[in-house]
Amino acid sequence: MSKEKLRIAVQKSGRLFEDSIKILKDAGISIDNGKEQLKASSRNFPLEVMYLRNGDIPQYLRDGVVDVAIIGENVLIEKGQDIIKGEKLGFSKCRVSLAVPKSFNYTGIKDLDGSKIATSYPNTVNQFLKEKGISAELHIINGSVEIAPNIGLADAICDIVSSGSTLFKNGLKEVEVMLKSEAVLAISPQISEERKKILEKLQFRMKSVLNART
Ligand code: PRP
Ligand code: MG
Repeated sequence: MSKEKLRIAVQKSGRLFEDSIKILKDAGISIDNGKEQLKASSRNFPLEVMYLRNGDIPQYLRDGVVDVAIIGENVLIEKGQDIIKGEKLGFSKCRVSLAVPKSFNYTGIKDLDGSKIATSYPNTVNQFLKEKGISAELHIINGSVEIAPNIGLADAICDIVSSGSTLFKNGLKEVEVMLKSEAVLAISPQISEERKKILEKLQFRMKSVLNART
């Protein structure tokens, strides 16, 4: 039997982690590990799991260091337009939205012309603003974006909205939904033919899980 294994990246910590492990488990794949180890193998399927930072995953896929990943579609849109997008996995649903302070009398996107926007999604925001013919100054920050208007760093923010509670707690309101996202399977453009065959088996199992869930 071939020793070839498929390498899959999953988010190390954060909102995708648990559901990513669960879908693999539901697909009958047992993974030996604690997530303290950054790499784990399956006992009953030719799979190696790598636990990585969300934002690093597109580069690993591009380089062919991992063959496939479970990742938010929003991350692929921001950083991985060249990565192959596979099945939608039905969890970690969210929006990438623009939000402004509640007191901002927002009438439309033109109100943000010339404004400062804080975000972790510069490419997504730039593309959206370009389509609307709006120019704004972007402040790129990696986390806790919603604090920016309160500390005078920006007039508006663009970030992920799931329950909406982070916006609410920071006195912000969602004014534009730029895109909707959920977890997807992302495939390296460099995947080998041999590993593609393993991937097809994995996809078949995942589809059965997803069908059973609906
Ligand atoms: C994420 C995201 C939003 C929030 C959205 O942040 O950046 O801030 O969750 O979720 P909600 O609408 O359910 O409140 P996270 O807590 O992962 O931290 P980070 O921004 O510091 O990475
Ligand atoms: Mg956040």
